[in-house]
Amino acid sequence: MNWFIILSLFFIWNFQECHCCLKSKRSADYCECSDIIDLLDEYADRANIPMTEKVGCVRNITCDADDQTYVTIYFSASEIVRPDDNNNDIGYVDSTNLQTGVPRGPLDIFSSFGMSCENKKWYVTKYPFGLSYEKKDWKLEYITGDWDGKKSEIKFIACIAPP
Ligand SMILES: *[C@@H]1O[C@H](CO)[C@@H](O)[C@H](O)[C@H]1NC(C)=O
Repeated sequence: MNWFIILSLFFIWNFQECHCCLKSKRSADYCECSDIIDLLDEYADRANIPMTEKVGCVRNITCDADDQTYVTIYFSASEIVRPDDNNNDIGYVDSTNLQTGVPRGPLDIFSSFGMSCENKKWYVTKYPFGLSYEKKDWKLEYITGDWDGKKSEIKFIACIAPP
């Protein structure tokens, strides 16, 4: 082998390495999910809800921790097993303990619910105040569990603007 070939191989290898690292650097800033703001329900007072975009798919959505701030999920699109007495496949990820009403005040639901983007879908992965759901008699039931890391696709976000 002559030096020319060795040098050429070296340059080609080097070029490919660089190409790859540029690509992976770029994809860290890019979020493949749709704008999470589109998941806010029709009642959300968008103008008064502080929302910021951070690197990649990291956001901050600050709402008032309240019985009107929650994320709607479908058990059929969740890793959490649907309770036997649930009447409609729907669960609500609560932003406060609905039985004690604590806490109240501004809460970044993006980080406290462990929201993340995977395969173009938004999920919650944390349930700090558990879930509520409607039973067959339409009464609300509250449940908690060891669910950290279990994914539930976000259907809607109900968010009351912080005081
Ligand atoms: C999220 O935004 C709120 C309101 O702008 C701010 O008070 C809070 O510190 C932010 N949280 C994080 C983790 O950046």
